[in-house]
Amino acid sequence: MSKPLHFNAFVMNTGSHIQHGQWRHADARQADFNDVEVWIDLVTTLEAAKFDAVFFADVVGLYGAAGSAYDVNAREGLQLPSNDPSVLLSALAVHTEHLGLAFTSSILQEHPFTFARRVSTLDHISKGRIAWNIVTSSSENAARNFGFDRLAEHDERYAWAEEYVDVTYKLWEGSWDEGALVRDRETGVFANSSKIHKIDHRGARYAVEGPHLSSPSPQRTPVLFQAGASGAGKAFAAANAEAVFIAAPTPEIAAEGIAQTRALAVAAGREPGDILFFQGLSFIVGRTEEEARAREADIDSYASVDGYLAHMNFGTRPDGSPYPPETPLASIATNERQGMLDWLRRSVTDREPTVADLGQIVAQRARVVGTPESIADELEKWQAAGVDGINVNNWRLPGSYEEFAELVMPVLRERGLAQTEYQPGTLRAKLFGDSRLNDRHPAARYRGAFG
Ligand SMILES: Cc1cc2nc3c(=O)[nH]c(=O)nc-3n(C[C@H](O)[C@H](O)[C@H](O)COP(=O)(O)O)c2cc1C
Repeated sequence: MSKPLHFNAFVMNTGSHIQHGQWRHADARQADFNDVEVWIDLVTTLEAAKFDAVFFADVVGLYGAAGSAYDVNAREGLQLPSNDPSVLLSALAVHTEHLGLAFTSSILQEHPFTFARRVSTLDHISKGRIAWNIVTSSSENAARNFGFDRLAEHDERYAWAEEYVDVTYKLWEGSWDEGALVRDRETGVFANSSKIHKIDHRGARYAVEGPHLSSPSPQRTPVLFQAGASGAGKAFAAANAEAVFIAAPTPEIAAEGIAQTRALAVAAGREPGDILFFQGLSFIVGRTEEEARAREADIDSYASVDGYLAHMNFGTRPDGSPYPPETPLASIATNERQGMLDWLRRSVTDREPTVADLGQIVAQRARVVGTPESIADELEKWQAAGVDGINVNNWRLPGSYEEFAELVMPVLRERGLAQTEYQPGTLRAKLFGDSRLNDRHPAARYRGAFG
């Protein structure tokens, strides 16, 4: 029997997340994403199927060069409109018991003091099931939404992220000692100030006195997810992340990246198993191979190449002008998602792909088509490459997850590739056996540091 993989449902509080054009299908409820019932139904399905977590992507600006037109974004529903995932999670928390609730929040969008309090509140509401996907944002429009003239340079954004997480670690791990919350009705003491500390953070971007206004939540620090894949992104993940999302084109390329990040983690004083790697994949399932191929043809008939290209906008220069179609992807420099561009380039192995190939590459990438058995075979290959879990992308909500739950999960369970029951406790306890960050994590140094 294999070791179970972890499974996240990868979604976004919007009409067209990554598989563009699919919202037009009559069965696709993502067009109704403003309706909370769509999401409550989805998490009910996911929890019945023993998914580990629902994971919400998010962005705080448009895709495209600074000042560029957004007619394609609007027409395709390409993450426009979209709603705040963290607010939605508080509703989903009270409709689930075990499902992990992960959301993306950028260092751009909120001051770390209020962000830390928002997360503590969610972790209390969900009884310890919150995860934070730490992103640095790659949108020029996002930077302008928060008062900046332009997006900071790629590696500078990771330096900024280091300070941002440092502030939150101080608040979550160091500001309140164990036992500070007394609530003694006899003595009339609610909380013991000698165990509640100011953090007095002073750094390049933030000055935060503290103390944290929330008392410690079940996990204190939420489970920390991250998706950077560039050199700076891997270094940040190696130091901070407990789970890393990858979108590698093959198990071999996944194995390479995982080994690099794990080696960096060990150099930073952590252990290889302190980080779980989740590969993003889309599935098209059929009871027979023919049925799967017919479903694939149906899905492809809805695909919008315009949507894919506007999303993966590597074919335009930062000033918005297009690269000539014959431009090799290898010669494109981007201040955006460097890891993603590299994965797209390496998904073509027999020649050097060009800008003209982008639409095809993006639309076809990371998809597994077949019977439940052949999908299970494929997942075994990813597991053998060192992948700990799968981010299950969707074509249509909730159909993609209903099919996966009904057809694929039973075969995975038979092979021991999917859990049959939830472990008790918080999300971190389910994933790592303990509700609190281990002592090797950089946040742990703030425990007792401000007394
Ligand atoms: C699977 C996956 C999911 C991601 N989700 C988001 C997201 O929801 N919001 C966002 O702003 N960036 C997202 N990103 C982008 C990364 O957070 C990161 O900013 C980007 O990959 C650039 O970092 P890099 O150059 O180090 O790879 C995602 C990346 C991957 C691979």
